[in-house]
Amino acid sequence: MMRAAPLLLALLCCLIGQTWAAASYPPIPKDKTTPVQQRIALYGPRAMSVGWNTYEKQSQPCVDYGLSPGKLTMSSCSDSSITYPTSRTWSNSVILNNLKPATKYFYKIRSTNSSTDFFQSGRVAGDKTPFTLNTIIDLGVYGEDGYTLPHDDKSKRDEIPKIQPALNHTTIGALAKTIDDYELILHPGDFAYADDWYEKPKNLGDGSAAYQAILEQFYEQLSPIARRKGYQASPGNHEQVFTKFDCSEVPGQTQLCPAGQRNFSDFMNRFGKTMPHGYGSVSKNNSAQQAANKAKTLAEPPFWYSFDYGSLHVAMINTETDFPSAPDGPGTNLNGGPIGAMGQQLEWLDADLSSVDRTVTPWVVVAGHRPWYSTGGSKQNCEPCRKAFEPTLYKYGVDVAVFGHVHNSQATAGGVYNNTADPAGLNNPKAPMYVVSGGTGNIEGLTRVGEKQSYNAFAYDTSFSYASFTFKSAKELIINFYRSDSGEKLHTSTLKKEHKQAFVRQ
Ligand SMILES: *[C@@H]1O[C@H](CO)[C@@H](O)[C@H](O)[C@H]1NC(C)=O
Ligand SMILES: *[C@@H]1O[C@H](CO)[C@@H](O)[C@H](O)[C@H]1NC(C)=O
Ligand SMILES: *[C@@H]1O[C@H](CO)[C@@H](O)[C@H](O)[C@H]1NC(C)=O
Ligand SMILES: *[C@@H]1O[C@H](CO)[C@@H](O)[C@H](O)[C@H]1NC(C)=O
Ligand SMILES: *[C@@H]1O[C@H](CO)[C@@H](O)[C@H](O)[C@H]1NC(C)=O
Repeated sequence: MMRAAPLLLALLCCLIGQTWAAASYPPIPKDKTTPVQQRIALYGPRAMSVGWNTYEKQSQPCVDYGLSPGKLTMSSCSDSSITYPTSRTWSNSVILNNLKPATKYFYKIRSTNSSTDFFQSGRVAGDKTPFTLNTIIDLGVYGEDGYTLPHDDKSKRDEIPKIQPALNHTTIGALAKTIDDYELILHPGDFAYADDWYEKPKNLGDGSAAYQAILEQFYEQLSPIARRKGYQASPGNHEQVFTKFDCSEVPGQTQLCPAGQRNFSDFMNRFGKTMPHGYGSVSKNNSAQQAANKAKTLAEPPFWYSFDYGSLHVAMINTETDFPSAPDGPGTNLNGGPIGAMGQQLEWLDADLSSVDRTVTPWVVVAGHRPWYSTGGSKQNCEPCRKAFEPTLYKYGVDVAVFGHVHNSQATAGGVYNNTADPAGLNNPKAPMYVVSGGTGNIEGLTRVGEKQSYNAFAYDTSFSYASFTFKSAKELIINFYRSDSGEKLHTSTLKKEHKQAFVRQ
């Protein structure tokens, strides 16, 4: 979510000029090969990506890995060490191929100052082992540039003590405490909230530096989680900066958002080479294989792409640009994209979902940033998104769609289609069930639930929270919502699906 443009603050900023400049940059390590902001992702049926930043360009980023910490006998390198004009760091990425599935690997980024870590590789499509994934959306930086109380209580913001990256009471703390309970994370949009730098008066003299400082802090805070679990990203509105108001309507300033921070620059730099295109299909059906290959060529990671994980197929969509009347497309305040050719994202989604063989991956989840069914009303529900995506989700029998943007947790009582609750509820509905998992915590605070709709079963805005999906069997999915600070279970939805048809068309 976002608030109105901070025009007054912006003007104030420019009058003051550089004199107040006090962006909270983390210290630069003496050894500039030191990896920071480490992250991994599922990249292919037997591949994982490793991404990290460094404070100097790496001529050849490499990762050594193996099946025991003392025997990192394999290695993989790339020549990908990239940056953009306002960044202090370079994004490095390496792909690890030919991994044994669902196997513990140890890995070490090659550097004179790095340590060995580990991950479990992905499950191949068709592996029916139960597993859990978490959905984390709208997660912002903590500490002096970000921490806030629930409900956007600005009056209290300055009373917050400076908290250390132990972050025990936050969603990152909850993810650390429960690290053995889940296998991967979906994060469709709104990382860091760097574009909210102007909320802290100390930043007003130099927004460009504050923007970068927040990104550096945030991705380092996230790294204990993202270096260990496949962390799948797609964009939200905060991956852009307000171009129209901040950048061109305030005369005579340049430090508010230099060109290098517009149009998803950091997001693309960071995730562009580490998110998958698609996994192809292991179905025996020829036309399913062809459709999956077509989807792979139409995918534009990290904006839209898909992957398989055991009994699950996931499609990550871009609700910001690249469909008719997209909220952040060309000519809007955020003026982003287009990322692909006209119609490409919707053509991709159709090909991708049409290829899913439910005898291989019975479950299909779509994850995106902006919801179209929530208690947020017409201001927060994205009607152009609904028009663009809902018919395709329904047609191919998507089981659950999960979004954020609204800063709280919500679950529908079952399937919803065309603004109407599916009469079957959670017992084999034809329409997708909808989840909002946007209450993970950021500088803007939580969003009040507001008016519950007839299709809502659960809506929670008291404290930071997130949703956790456990795929128990081909027919049963359990969605738990947890309160981040206490671990309390807030709500459970049990979705039952027969998944009788191999290729759903309705
Ligand atoms: C080595 O890395 C650690 C943390 O990853 C960092 O705190 C330390 O400053 C680094 N040492 C040097 C010499 O850069
Ligand atoms: C955070 O939690 C961990 C493990 O639960 C504990 O060891 C650590 O002391 C806690 N840190 C703070 C600052 O409370
Ligand atoms: C093969 O897959 C297509 C969808 O790609 C589906 O329409 C068709 O019914 C499938 N054929 C069989 C025999 O399952
Ligand atoms: C944003 O980036 C995309 C992809 O690089 C590019 O095609 C598009 O033209 C850019 N849009 C603007 C407004 O700069
Ligand atoms: C959706 O509902 C409206 C009425 O609310 C109806 O006119 C329309 O035909 C419905 N569309 C579909 C595809 O069911």
